[in-house]
Amino acid sequence: MKTTISLIKADIGSSPGHVTVYEPLMTLAEELMEKAKDENTITDFLVFNAGDDTELLMTHNKGVDNAEIHKLAWDTFMKLGTEARNIGLYGAGQDLLKDTFSGNVKGMGPGCAEMEIEERPAEPILVFAMDKTEPGAFNYPIFQMFANPFNTAGLIIDPKLHDGFNFSVMDVFKNKFLDLSCPNEMYDLLALVGAPSKYVIKHVYSKNPELGIAASISTDKLALIAGKYVGKDDPVAIVRSQSGFPAVGEIVEAFTLGHLVSGWMRGSHRGPLMPVPLEYSQCVRFDGPPRVVGLGFQLKNGKIIGAVDLFDDLSFDSTREKCNEIAEYMRRHGPFEPGRLPLSEMEYTTLPDVLKKFEGRFRE
Ligand code: F6R
Ligand code: MG
Ligand code: MG
Repeated sequence: MKTTISLIKADIGSSPGHVTVYEPLMTLAEELMEKAKDENTITDFLVFNAGDDTELLMTHNKGVDNAEIHKLAWDTFMKLGTEARNIGLYGAGQDLLKDTFSGNVKGMGPGCAEMEIEERPAEPILVFAMDKTEPGAFNYPIFQMFANPFNTAGLIIDPKLHDGFNFSVMDVFKNKFLDLSCPNEMYDLLALVGAPSKYVIKHVYSKNPELGIAASISTDKLALIAGKYVGKDDPVAIVRSQSGFPAVGEIVEAFTLGHLVSGWMRGSHRGPLMPVPLEYSQCVRFDGPPRVVGLGFQLKNGKIIGAVDLFDDLSFDSTREKCNEIAEYMRRHGPFEPGRLPLSEMEYTTLPDVLKKFEGRFRE
């Protein structure tokens, strides 16, 4: 049986400032999703948050890029945006860049990761959502999961993974895609995705045609859509697991470095990505540090079974401690690179004004 998993998210308002989604807003989202489930538009759903982003995880049988599902997500966000405005939440409706829906949420502000799969008899699915960073922040963990044998033991010792995986990489500025095969083209892949502000892993595929898609990552680039700063494009990802895909433990292992990502305060700094349980999915210190939450579940006939908060586990405590140390160290750089991002990647800048002010005072 074919099932589609759609993870669509938007920042539609938070409290205080950009810290976290207001609980009653998530309850409203749940009510709207429950209604769509009753009307058989979707099979099942989960609503959760990553910092100030509201995440709608939906399962259905309508395929990817489906207008009805995208409209459901869009209408839900529009209603939440209105409610957020009435309540007085911060940044109400900030990711809703257009007034009218045009068939697909792409280019309209929300971020979206989707995949259609032929469900195996037992289908473990993991979803991840990040706040205060950008889509390229997934490059490192996705590479680790599907290409690095020092992370994923199965690449070496499980015959079902030993052929490696195919990666689809997007040039986010040119909107073009390149397919690369690992391990044979691994160095080429790394030459690209080591630059996560330009090249972003969009999809991963098994080399076994019976298994098909392995991972899907949102690559919506708000800054490019709106042509101006409208909020960091916090990404989401869907990853399949076990029996030909990396094990659950190999997938979450990829988040144990606390790797440095772009974003954090005013989308203009570098900070460590901290894996947290949903309970701690809020961005406070210097509006961060950037965070990732993860949920794992079994999918059966489109139903979400036994969802688990993946980072709600003692084994991630040492990563979180390390992230706090790295955060402290990066903060001490203040306005200096590499604590602050290079000029080309900053979401906020006063430099044009400063240069204009001192135009006449530059000497030979
Ligand atoms: C970063 C982010 C926050 C804001 C910061 C300033 O993605 O959302 O760090 O950039 O709090 O916000 P404004 O400009 O709304 O005062
Ligand atoms: Mg916000
Ligand atoms: Mg956010």
